[in-house]
This record gives sequence, structure tokens and C-alpha cells, in this order.
Amino acid sequence: MSALLQSASTAPDLTGHNIVLAPMEGVIDAPMRRLLTGIGGYTRCVTEFIRVGDVLLPEKVFFRLCPELETGGHTEHGIPVYSQLLGSEPDALAKNAVRAAQLGSPGIDLNFGCPAKTVNKSMGGSILLRTPSVVADIVRAVRDAVPADIPVTAKIRLGYDNSDALGDIVQGIRDAGATELAIHARTKFDGYKPPAWWANVRPVVPNGDLTTYINGEIWTIEDSVAARQASGCTHIMLGRGALAAPDLALRIAAAAKGESVTPIAWLDVSHLVEAQFLRSDSQSPRHIGNRTKQWLAYLKRSYTEAPELFGRIRKMHSVQDIQKAFSEHRDWLATQE
Ligand SMILES: Cc1cc2nc3c(=O)[nH]c(=O)nc-3n(C[C@H](O)[C@H](O)[C@H](O)COP(=O)(O)O)c2cc1C
Repeated sequence: MSALLQSASTAPDLTGHNIVLAPMEGVIDAPMRRLLTGIGGYTRCVTEFIRVGDVLLPEKVFFRLCPELETGGHTEHGIPVYSQLLGSEPDALAKNAVRAAQLGSPGIDLNFGCPAKTVNKSMGGSILLRTPSVVADIVRAVRDAVPADIPVTAKIRLGYDNSDALGDIVQGIRDAGATELAIHARTKFDGYKPPAWWANVRPVVPNGDLTTYINGEIWTIEDSVAARQASGCTHIMLGRGALAAPDLALRIAAAAKGESVTPIAWLDVSHLVEAQFLRSDSQSPRHIGNRTKQWLAYLKRSYTEAPELFGRIRKMHSVQDIQKAFSEHRDWLATQE
């Protein structure tokens, strides 16, 4: 297993195609970023959102959501991790962005896509897409506040209830000086319902543009090609697809260079899942196994063997039981050969 992680963790040469690991609250945390960037293919990560009200947050909040700040804002495998901020107050966001930069964040990402109700009640995330000028004000305030060599990126959806304002939103973000922009090709109303409307992004992506990332429903190499073609984006962002197939970025990166990488076999993935369970999901008595079950739910999409393991541990809450289930699952696998 370590050979796999080591050989794949060399700096990715994507011949111009960047692949960003999407922010996913409660799912893609520092241990998961470490694991996925260890397998390879990613050029950047983004933290789960850091909610900003009207105050300067204590340093510990930044370190909690981005422990990589302890190591220069990069994962153990050398991939930069941008801190994502979510809020609606330009001044407060700017102050907190400066703090993140001072703590060593290699970039700041601004969340304008989150659909969660509690977030939107406190004005943040996708509700701001209804007022493109506010989005632009926030990007400008943050851009003006942080040092010029720190990239400021934004993540949006196509719009709130429709995509009529997409052109204004994107123009405002670019004029305000954002370095790059990721577009989840669905409105807030679309939620996470397939499909993602990649082609709806095309009108806001100039020919030859290298600053816009297409995001949403990219589960396979073929999806990545189709999303790029339909949207006109060179770069992509992977969220759930990265969890369903932990080597997806590596295989997409290889395919972009005309090469191919053998997909990781389920047995190896099951060892990765178990190691991850022991490293990051077996500590807190109240939540033992939750993240592992959540990850297995995504893995079921790519691996026919995953439901068997998921079924075994679904109702388990103790480290001993879950470890035993991993072992019994491998015994079961052996009988399937
Ligand atoms: C459980 C979950 C948590 C998410 N958390 C965040 C977040 O913290 N910040 C953000 O900008 N987007 C967040 N998203 C949206 C994803 O980054 C991404 O835009 C979305 O899942 C579509 O991409 P995908 O089809 O590749 O998953 C989240 C999505 C999910 C499913």
C-alpha cells in the first residue's frame, strides 16, 4: 500500500489540466485530503467552509479546519490547501482572509455556492448569487486586503433559482480581481440533482480561458472529458467523484497525457478505508465509524464489493467490532475469487 501511495504522490504533471479537490463539509477533512493527495492527481485542495459572521475569528478556528497551516498550508504530499470562507460581510471576510493568509494559507477561497438553509438564513453561500454586486463587493474587499501574491478564488453555482444572472456574477467576480473561479454547474434550486448543466457554463468561459474550473457530476474519465468539452473549461474540480473513486484524479491526469493507470483494486481500497478509520474515525466515542460509513456510501458507486462491507458495519459503533468486520469482509472477498 505504501508503494502505491508513494509512487503516486510525485508532483502531478497534468500538462495544463488542473484538478482541484472540492471542499466538502463533514466529509473532506484534513485526513481525507492527506489520503487523496497521497494517491495523486490533485493540484490543489480547499478546506471545508469557515463560517464568518462579523468578527475576527480566533486562530484556533483556522487551525481546526485547516491543520495543514501547521505545515505551510500544504498537505503532507506538497499540495496547497486554500482556506474557504463563507459569509456576507465584506469587511469581516477581508479581515479573516488576512488572518488566514498570515497563518500561512497559500490562498483564499470564497464560498458562494452553499445551499444549506442555516447558512442562507445568516446570509452566506448561494443566496448571495441573487445580488451579483454583493458577490463582487466581497471578492474586491478580500482581494484588496490580502497580499497580492496570495490567490483569491471563488466558488459559485449557476445561480440561485435560475442562471439568468450568471454572466453578471462571473463578470463581477473577474472584475473584482479573483484569480480563479470554480462553477458548480447547477443552481441552488437544482440542489445536487443530476444532471449538472456543464454547457450552461460555456457562455461565460472565453476561448483559451485558464482560470475557470468546471464542477459537478464528474465521476469518470469520460465525464471529465465531456464536462471540459461542454463547458469550455480546461480545469476541473472533483467532489463526490473523488470519494467514489479515490484514484479518479490520478487516472484523469494520466488520460490527459494519453497514458493510463490501472484503477486501484477493491482490496487495496478496503485497506485504505480501514487505515483511515483507525487514523481519524475511531477516536470520538459518539461518532465512531460515521465518516467511514459515509465514505463507503460513496465507494458503493464504483466498487461492487463495497455494499458488503457497508452492510457489515452499518450499525456498528465500536472500534473492535468495525475492525473485525473489515477482517471478515476480506475473508468474504477471498471466497469470491
Ligand atoms: C456533503 C457535502 C458537503 C459540501 N461542503 C461544501 C463546502 O464546505 N464548501 C463548498 O464550497 N462546497 C461544498 N459542497 C459542494 C461541493 O464542493 C461540490 O460543489 C458539489 O458536491 C458538486 O460537485 P461533485 O458532483 O463533484 O460532488 C459540498 C457538497 C457535499 C455533497
